This record gives sequence, structure tokens and C-alpha cells, in this order.
Amino acid sequence: MKVLVTGGAGFIGANFVRSTVAERPDTTVTVLDALTYAASRSSVEGLAGVRLVEGDVADADLVDALVAEADLVVHFAAESHNDNSLVTPWPFVHTNLVGTFTLLEAVRRHKKRYHHISTDEVFGDLELDDPGRFNELTPYNPSSPYSSTKAGSDLLVRAWVRSFGLEATISNCSNNYGPFQHVEKFIPRQITNVIDGVRPRLYGTGENVRDWIHVADHNAAVWTIIERGRIGETYLIGADGEMNNVSVIRLVLELMGQDPDAFDHVTDRPGHDLRYAIDPTRLRGELGWEPRFTSFRDGLEDTIAWYRSHESWWRDAKETTEQRYRAAGEQIRG
Ligand code: NAD
Ligand code: TYD
Repeated sequence: MKVLVTGGAGFIGANFVRSTVAERPDTTVTVLDALTYAASRSSVEGLAGVRLVEGDVADADLVDALVAEADLVVHFAAESHNDNSLVTPWPFVHTNLVGTFTLLEAVRRHKKRYHHISTDEVFGDLELDDPGRFNELTPYNPSSPYSSTKAGSDLLVRAWVRSFGLEATISNCSNNYGPFQHVEKFIPRQITNVIDGVRPRLYGTGENVRDWIHVADHNAAVWTIIERGRIGETYLIGADGEMNNVSVIRLVLELMGQDPDAFDHVTDRPGHDLRYAIDPTRLRGELGWEPRFTSFRDGLEDTIAWYRSHESWWRDAKETTEQRYRAAGEQIRG
């Protein structure tokens, strides 16, 4: 099987590519990636069965040629960081909306199987004490340029399914953690701060809740949906991993041998979503998927060990990332 993976040099895409060629020897992968600041060539280059094509998912001619030769298209490519979207929204519109549109048109022309990777952030946020969680019927209510462009891309896929009979599935997953995640994101930022002797940075009070899932579990669920999901359906992916940010920071510090209170509160994110939580009943009940990483503590320990032993992978991005946070006005509050 020939799989076209967009965004395969980013965090989740690279983990998907690596596990796919490791576990499915009859599969070859073409990665289409614009190699933006968020990508790392070294995450996938040189792997047997993997070809890396540098290019933009909104480049219609290139995308048409690559889709034509694939059996399956899995679309991870996106501008993915909320904080960046609040400073410079245009790349989010370009990649997440125009890029997805371009890919869908090629998939329609060539009648290929398509899987669309999305996020739970399309649903907006929940109150801390809301007994409910997001499910496949929750209305879309995105908060940021990132989540609104992801929501728009999901709606394009739904329309292409309905109007053109596209053979597509969609998944909306909660926050991922694990190896190869860019140091701009919450967990790797704090781990690499501690390695550098810098205090972790907590936005606002830290009561915000995210529903953490290991990236390997996300990708296993994606393959389950590709192989057994109903065409045209949406599946939410989550692993019952709700935890507030202050607890995550305290756990990182504890696991790294530091005082759990040795962090700083910094300027809060504008429009900061309070809580995300996924009800994965459809995925588990209908498709029988179960997560393997059921202990966040163990998964986080593995992730810390990975960042400690892969400093050459993240070092170059660290200073530019921290510079970007300073330029955006991040300040220590106490
Ligand atoms: P990432 O930022 O680490 O990787 C995105 C990749 O897309 C990068 O390699 C980048 O170079 C590439 N890219 C960006 N613009 C491109 C363009 N115009 N053409 C081609 N490639 C382009 O992101 P990630 O965290 O790996 O997220 C991957 C997907 O999963 C995204 O669609 C995101 O919305 C979704 N998702 C992420 C999370 C999470 O917790 N990180 C959770 C749920 C869903
Ligand atoms: P992030 O990794 O950016 O993911 P998302 O915005 O998609 O949930 O952030 C996760 C949570 O951590 C979010 O509530 C914002 C918070 N956060 C901090 O408290 N400090 C930080 O340095 C960063 C990057 C995020």
C-alpha cells in the first residue's frame, strides 16, 4: 500500500510515519511537508520505505501528482500552535483551509481514500464542573484562529463527503504528548526549560484542563479508523487523560527531581480555553480501540527520558522559540 502523509515531518505525522513503516512492511510512505519551523527533517529522513517531498499542501499541481500515485491519503499538515495563531493568523488560513481544500480536490479527482486529522479544539471549551464531555454530536464552537481554521477544514471534508461522495473519515483527538513534539508546546517546553535550568512557565492560574493522550495511542486509533471506520463518519479520540496544567507542571518537576513548586506564573493566553474532555465511546464501542498508555505518569517519564537523550533534535529550536514567546509579550507574574 502507498500512503501519502501530509505534515509527516511534524510531531504526530512523524510518529505516524515511523510506526507505520515499522509495523507494516508492505506499506511505503510519501511525506509531503513544507518543512516549516515546526518540522524536523531528521524525524523521518533516511527511514526505509519513506520518501520525503518538500512542498506546500496548497500547491495544486504537486498535490495532484502525489495524490494520483497514492492508495490512501492521511492529512496531518497544519499550522498547529494556538499562541502563534494569535500573533499571525494568515498561515493558519492558508494551510488549514486552502491547503485542505487543495488536497480534497485532488482526492476527489483521483477517487482516493482520505483520512482527515483534526482536534477536539473545534468544539470550544467546557466548564470545569460540566459533567459532560465532547462527543461526535457536540456543536462546533471554536475560539482561536487555530481552532476555527481546523473547524473549517473539518466542514470542508463533510461537504465533500456529502456533495461529491468522497471516501473519507475524520478524527478529532485531544492533546498529544510524546517524542518529537516541538518545544513550543506545553509539555516539551517545560521539560526543556528544566533541562536548561529555567523555571517552567504556567499560563494564568493553571486551572485549565487538557485531556492528554500519548501520540502512539492517537496514531493506533487513526489506523483503526482507516481500517474499520464507517465512511463519512467522525470519531473522537481520547484516553480519559484529563489533568489541569498546574498538576502537569508539578509532575514534570517531580519526575525531573525538582521542587514541584519551582515554576512561574506568566501572562495568560487571550481567549484561553478552560477545559477539553473527550468521550471516546464511539471509537471504543464500535471499533474496539483501547489506549496502551493508561498511566500518564509512565508516559511522561518516557517522554522526559526521550528529551534528555535527544538534545540535538530540539536544541536549535529552543532559543528561537523562547525569543518568540518574549516578543509576544510573555511576562512573569510571580
Ligand atoms: P506540528 O506543527 O508538529 O506539525 C505540522 C506539520 O505540518 C509540520 O511538519 C509542518 O512543516 C507541516 N506543514 C505546515 N504547513 C504546511 C503546508 N502548507 N504544506 C505542507 N506541510 C505543512 O503539528 P502536530 O502537533 O503534529 O499536529 C498534526 C495534526 O494533528 C494537525 O492537523 C493538528 O491540528 C492535529 N492535532 C494535533 C494535536 C496535538 O496535541 N498536537 C491534537 C489533536 C489534533
Ligand atoms: P499547548 O501545548 O499550546 O496546547 P493547546 O493550546 O492546543 O491545548 O498548551 C496546553 C496547555 O498548556 C494550554 O492550556 C496552555 C498551557 N500552556 C502553559 O501553561 N504554558 C506554556 O508555556 C504553554 C506553551 C502552554
